Amino acid sequence: MKDTVIINGAAGGIGKAIVESLIANYHLILLVRTKASAVELEDYLTKKLFFRDYMIFVLDSGNKDDFERVLNDLKQKNISNIKGIVNTVGFVKIGSLLDVDESDWLSAFNICFMGVVRTIKYFSQLMTSGSIVLINGILSQHPKPNPIIASSMTGAVSNFAKAMAIEMIDRNIRVNVVNPSLTDTPLIKKIASQLTHDDDSYQGVIKSMESSAPMGRFIKPKEIADLVKFLIASSSEYINNISLNIDGGVQK
Ligand SMILES: NC(=O)c1ccc[n+]([C@@H]2O[C@H](COP(=O)([O-])OP(=O)(O)OC[C@H]3O[C@@H](n4cnc5c(N)ncnc54)[C@H](OP(=O)(O)O)[C@@H]3O)[C@@H](O)[C@H]2O)c1
Repeated sequence: MKDTVIINGAAGGIGKAIVESLIANYHLILLVRTKASAVELEDYLTKKLFFRDYMIFVLDSGNKDDFERVLNDLKQKNISNIKGIVNTVGFVKIGSLLDVDESDWLSAFNICFMGVVRTIKYFSQLMTSGSIVLINGILSQHPKPNPIIASSMTGAVSNFAKAMAIEMIDRNIRVNVVNPSLTDTPLIKKIASQLTHDDDSYQGVIKSMESSAPMGRFIKPKEIADLVKFLIASSSEYINNISLNIDGGVQK
């Protein structure tokens, strides 16, 4: 029987690549923010990839009640031996201290930080051993004043993960963090559109973001997904409590 892995953020650019990297070896529980994303992802999995070994739930990472509901649903379905959890939910609000307001901070805290806390708190209850992987960000290692919120939230996630790795070791659960730099997903477009107001400069912003990358290109989501696949598998059993940067090696 295949092991089960939960992916929170399964419809995102990195999330979908992780789904694709795991489908051959795992039964998947997929968490997505909206009903529309659930329908789209189901269509993609069943009609394009011919994959049916999954369950899908709508869950807002900013809403504690959603976690309780999904956890109860899983318990009722007698799902109790989850071997992996991946969190890849997130968004980025561009801006430095004076550009962002209190509601931006609070919503990022609720979704990007508390969403991680809730993902581990609720779903690790269904684990007796295994591996948790958090997709965080290179800003956790190299914070910048803009985007100040992402620099702060990723730093908080990084420390939370380290504390969790220590707490979970007695339960045979590993906790590792992956820190990408700019990756070719819809998030890049969301960032670029926050930086521009017309089509021409939008393309220019995308180009300059890409050329600022150490290797002159964005990371491919599959490059992150392959790493996650390794960290979830039992073959990486002795790798624990690490923050692994995937950023081309040079910060400009
Ligand atoms: N792409 C990059 O350059 C980059 C670089 C460093 C770190 N990261 C991090 O990598 C992770 C994945 O990013 P990505 O590039 O795959 O971005 P993405 O394509 O925008 O995916 C992010 C996913 O998070 C979901 N999400 C947002 N708010 C949510 C909420 N309240 N509840 C549940 N789901 C929610 C989004 O759903 P909706 O679309 O429905 O909102 C989307 O499916 C994020 O944590 C991001 O910060 C990305």
